[in-house]
Amino acid sequence: MIKVADSKSPVWMLRMQHSDYAIGVDAAGKLQHLYWGAKLVDEQDLPGADDRPIWILEDDQGYSRQEIMPWGGLNYDEPGLKVTFADGIRDLVLVYHSYEQPAEDELVLVLKDALKPLTVRLVYKVRAAVDIVERHVELHNEGTEDIRLEQVLSAIWHLPIQPQYRMSYLSGLWAGETQIQTEPLKPGKKVIESRRGTGSHQMNPFFFLDFGLSDEEFGEVYFGAVAYSGSWKIVAEQTTYQSLLIGAGINDFDFSWKLEPGETFTTPISIGGYSGSGYGEASRKLHRYQLQSVLPCADQLRPVLYNSWEATKFDVNEQQQMRLAEKAAKLGCELFVMDDGWFGERHSDQAGLGDWTVNRTKFPNGLQPLIQHVKSLGMQFGIWLEPEMVNPDSDLFRSHPEWIYHFPGRDRTLSRNQCVLNVAREDVQEHLFGVMHALLSENDISFIKWDMNRYFTEPGWPNAPAGREQELWVRHTRGIYSILDRLQQQHPNVAFEACSGGGGRVDLGMMKYVVQFWTSDNTDPYDRLRIQEGYSLAYNIKSMMCWVTDAPNYINQRSAPLKYRFHSSMMGSLGIGMNLNELSEEELEQSRQYIEQYKRIRRTIQEGSLYRIASPRASDDTAVQYVSGDQSESVVFALRRSEQFRMPFYPIRLRGLDPDAAYSIEGSDVRRSGRSFMSRGIQVQLEADFTSELIVLRKV
Ligand code: DGJ
Repeated sequence: MIKVADSKSPVWMLRMQHSDYAIGVDAAGKLQHLYWGAKLVDEQDLPGADDRPIWILEDDQGYSRQEIMPWGGLNYDEPGLKVTFADGIRDLVLVYHSYEQPAEDELVLVLKDALKPLTVRLVYKVRAAVDIVERHVELHNEGTEDIRLEQVLSAIWHLPIQPQYRMSYLSGLWAGETQIQTEPLKPGKKVIESRRGTGSHQMNPFFFLDFGLSDEEFGEVYFGAVAYSGSWKIVAEQTTYQSLLIGAGINDFDFSWKLEPGETFTTPISIGGYSGSGYGEASRKLHRYQLQSVLPCADQLRPVLYNSWEATKFDVNEQQQMRLAEKAAKLGCELFVMDDGWFGERHSDQAGLGDWTVNRTKFPNGLQPLIQHVKSLGMQFGIWLEPEMVNPDSDLFRSHPEWIYHFPGRDRTLSRNQCVLNVAREDVQEHLFGVMHALLSENDISFIKWDMNRYFTEPGWPNAPAGREQELWVRHTRGIYSILDRLQQQHPNVAFEACSGGGGRVDLGMMKYVVQFWTSDNTDPYDRLRIQEGYSLAYNIKSMMCWVTDAPNYINQRSAPLKYRFHSSMMGSLGIGMNLNELSEEELEQSRQYIEQYKRIRRTIQEGSLYRIASPRASDDTAVQYVSGDQSESVVFALRRSEQFRMPFYPIRLRGLDPDAAYSIEGSDVRRSGRSFMSRGIQVQLEADFTSELIVLRKV
């Protein structure tokens, strides 16, 4: 998979199923990016490491496309690395030293500074089947003095030189996450980032790039991401030399790291990938990559869950949750999750966060009776926690005010009436691990919804180890990963869901630890279509939780029929969030039937290949199709917001079927070839507002 050609100077070719990525060493010993794109025949197709146009004023260096772009010399572009040495030297001259190949699909390129005892290792792992390269950087201080790290990106990706570049990314806000944005790039920088301590609702650490012409089905698309849950940045810089580089990694804003002698700093992974067949194929590659290499329990179907939040908010108690659980079990739910409100003096969002002991007024006998009841109904039990947070009105805050990020003497900005615990501190990490370990040891809990409902402010760390205050951004994120890791070692049967006021913490770093994400607090089934479409651009469907909730929806007072609400939520991993005590017998029965239907087709939805056929961004009509791995089953959702002027829904031309096989539509006598379904399509009749159809095709 990784080919090393060693003629005058070494060349490494990362060979994947449909793409190649190549690196060489130039005459000055600098590591040059040579190629990334569709498959080549062999290394003779590559440019030489010294082949580059000479630009008048800046010499050939201005065009230099080094693999990691250390700041120094004539490099004025976004640097991959910027450091200051103890004697005040502030530039880097990295020279190729050696390479290692720890495995067939792994490559390590070792660079050393020309003068200083700093070793930089660029680590590559090839996921050939999905045309994805994983990269990260390791910096090792081999000297006797500290080195100050100022910017350490995980990767610099270089695109082929083309006359136009266009970038797509996911922006948003609370209740409106993962909105797809697409814009042409011009010379200069386009920065997407989070400075909020967490991934954020505002921007997601992911990008798509094309040359201005690609669409869902056609054209070259480059894509990438930062697998990291703290403050991150992605910089797309179009240089005046026509080239485009993308720097991706930890945000350097307010970041600083003291690299002591003997210490190694390891960045998170950044992935980069290539599709020759549009955005749709790029997403399918990302989905397959995540299911094969990132998401835990990817081979297991996600259970249909019930979550109490929208039904009972903070006002939970033993009897009421038992009644909800009985109804949820009758509907066919498999996991019952009690959300916020079960602990401390948590009666609203004003108090209680931090005090993770059961509220004995609400649960006089602890959690066990409810858990036993839920289990006796044949469901697993899950519970909500927000470990990193504390309300000022809590015992934890009163006993440990120093555990909060703050600048002494200054006000602490509250958000949702809460503060962020300083998880950079090891004693705070120990405390959180201890609390959760005890909860999981004492109770038969199968699932934790780990929430986080505010961003950082006043990022002060009083009494931090000298010179390490600004490391808190990274140490916090590493602390969260470490707590999750330890909990999973101790409680391997407990699954975690990541939530951050909805989808504020959806990224590939967190995906290593959680089986799913709460996609958005916006559960309106129409708004959800765009949120879910954006999510699907970068992230797999199995991890995308979608609940059916009450009408009118609390977010916007919109009332959509139960069928539309179910269809919108069945497009991901299904959950129920309705107040079941308020539903009629008829609604309960209909819900039971939808859940039963979902269970029959969920493997295709959760694991199949996804085709976005009609985008909710383009018109009132949305169509999404899923095809099982063996092409034997396909599921199609068609949803219409409103009909106008008697215009029918466009025929839905399916994708990904076996053209020569015959398929039938479940519940009808329609039987046609895959080719016919893909060329002629299917006609659905949707006339009224908020109408929808679910069509299941099976190979006969
Ligand atoms: C925000 C989450 O996104 C909701 O689902 C719910 O868990 C609330 N927090 C609880 O406070």
